[in-house]
Amino acid sequence: MNRINPNGFFSLSCFVNGQKIEREISSSRSLLEFIREDLGLKGTKEGCGEGECGACMVLLDGKTVNSCLMMAVQIDGRELVTIEGIKGKDGGLHPLQKTFMAEGAVQCGFCTPGLIVASEALLRRKPKATLDDIKLELTGNLCRCTGYEKVISAVDKARRSRK
Ligand code: FES
Ligand code: FES
Repeated sequence: MNRINPNGFFSLSCFVNGQKIEREISSSRSLLEFIREDLGLKGTKEGCGEGECGACMVLLDGKTVNSCLMMAVQIDGRELVTIEGIKGKDGGLHPLQKTFMAEGAVQCGFCTPGLIVASEALLRRKPKATLDDIKLELTGNLCRCTGYEKVISAVDKARRSRK
């Protein structure tokens, strides 16, 4: 099937935070623009816009990607999770969000969605993650405010609470 319509738009079909989404999009639309502007999911942030800061991080088929570096058409047929899709079992705050708050790991908060997305990816993949695993995982997420200690301790606390 030709997925480009006569107006030059691509017929995108994917899952976002568990919901099926079908949209006509320009093939030059970045994934970050699609998330923030087309879907209105503003939790995903634009920091550097060039793959360096992790503020735009989302999960694509369970793996972290920087959405500023991808085109929206690349998620066709795939499953995207943004920070809005990371919730607790009761639909409220996710355990990581609770420990970030409890540990004081959020200051301006601009990096926080990306840090939580990266931490969630790690804890899904490696439930017994060590402090070194956490530090390594978060090397792609820049935070100019916290100094990271409270962030690492929040992720470790969430890991222990999962047992
Ligand atoms: S905005 Fe995508 S990595 Fe910085
Ligand atoms: S809390 Fe401000 S950049 Fe991380």
